Amino acid sequence: MKIGVIGTGYVGLVTAVGLADMGHNVTGTDKVTEKIEKASRGIVPIYEPGLGDLLRKNLKKGNLCFNSDLEETIRSSDVLFVCVNTPQRKDGSADMTFVEGVSRCIAENLNGYKLIVEKSTVPVRTSSWIKRTMTLYKAGECSFDVASNPEFLREGSAVSDFLDPDRIIIGVESDKARDMLLKIYEKYKDKIYITNIDTAELIKHASNSFLAMKISYINLISDLCEKTDADVEFVAKGMGLDSRIGKQFLQAGLGYGGSCFPKDVRALVKMGEDLGIDMKLLKEVDRINMARTDMFIKKVKNALWILKNKKLAVLGLAFKPRTDDIRNAPSIHIIERLLEEEARLSLYDPEAVKNIKALFPEGRPEILYAASAYQALEGANAALFVTEWEELKNLDLKKAKKLMENPIIIDGRNIFKPGDVRKLGFEYYSIGRK
Ligand SMILES: NC(=O)c1ccc[n+]([C@@H]2O[C@H](COP(=O)([O-])OP(=O)(O)OC[C@H]3O[C@@H](n4cnc5c(N)ncnc54)[C@H](O)[C@@H]3O)[C@@H](O)[C@H]2O)c1
Repeated sequence: MKIGVIGTGYVGLVTAVGLADMGHNVTGTDKVTEKIEKASRGIVPIYEPGLGDLLRKNLKKGNLCFNSDLEETIRSSDVLFVCVNTPQRKDGSADMTFVEGVSRCIAENLNGYKLIVEKSTVPVRTSSWIKRTMTLYKAGECSFDVASNPEFLREGSAVSDFLDPDRIIIGVESDKARDMLLKIYEKYKDKIYITNIDTAELIKHASNSFLAMKISYINLISDLCEKTDADVEFVAKGMGLDSRIGKQFLQAGLGYGGSCFPKDVRALVKMGEDLGIDMKLLKEVDRINMARTDMFIKKVKNALWILKNKKLAVLGLAFKPRTDDIRNAPSIHIIERLLEEEARLSLYDPEAVKNIKALFPEGRPEILYAASAYQALEGANAALFVTEWEELKNLDLKKAKKLMENPIIIDGRNIFKPGDVRKLGFEYYSIGRK
């Protein structure tokens, strides 16, 4: 079986490298030729721990290659993993333009049986649209199947998530498609869960929305904690001890961001509403999440009163640690709001500065890009912790205090223990804790 991976972004590149590492013959393709040129030379264009080594290992082995010719990749593959982006449209629904475009291209280049595997996160019933597109545009009489195999990797631990997954969901409607996917994932046979295609598609959106709901839930509880003597860290711990609840995704803070949760919650809302279902529960999850920026800005103002001309060190810009991805990162909204208040910002992140610079270009007098967290803290009136990078958790706070104009920390991720930080002489504000 020859496998083609279409779209080599965060998911596609890991998929291509991961499938090659399992021993398959893989070609990755992308419309951005720069990504293909880099990947062919063993260079990972994104920051993803461990991916570079695995890419180079498999390029050397000879069963992984990259090619910017989509048509050629389609013609030379038996199985096509579609990993293109499915961004949010203005009305909240998923933009399926790229999936449609790829489906049409597969149809027009159908030179034998193909198994088309949806790996991108797609709305339930997308497979019916892919099949319709295939039927409308296909060249000749060759047959095909569509299957769903949603991806659950997390940026920052994508390689281990792909190579050691909790589960592999496979949605199929033919024995042939099922057998091909079982062969591809032979190594993981105990982790495979087979369903029909609509079910597999929905598992992905239902899972992401559920996790987002847990985050908004604990953030709502953290607001309650702030008005009482309860401490959200201990509330979350106490809740998590119940195995029905589990301790993950109960960290109160600035809410979820990234390229998946915000858009997937909204896409599920739109899917449900289009089918006449009341989706208020998930709308509220989104609303609570969006309100986290307001809550944080309020804390900054409560600590500093007037923000105009104050120097604020914003530490952590990626939407979460161990990635350079800033899509829907809380830092973006926070920076925008602080600029509206005419604050002066020194921004630092271990990996995401390049991406943030594309949104907030260098050269504006009110923005300084610091080369280290300590440089960002020089002369700062407050330190704002926005992403919980290990490097930031391990800052030498004594040194930080000496560098700052005012020893004030506003910790949006509950990185530090309040007692420890206050003992060092900081004024300390965090989320849902005194
Ligand atoms: N990023 C994640 O953590 C994650 C996790 C699970 C699922 N997903 C889902 O996987 C999908 C991809 O996400 P991503 O983060 O990798 O997106 P991405 O934007 O990083 O990558 C998508 C890639 O597809 C390419 N592409 C688009 N149209 C193409 C075409 N016609 N031909 C060739 N290449 C094309 C783009 O150039 C881009 O490189 C989305 O549906 C997303 O929701 C993402």
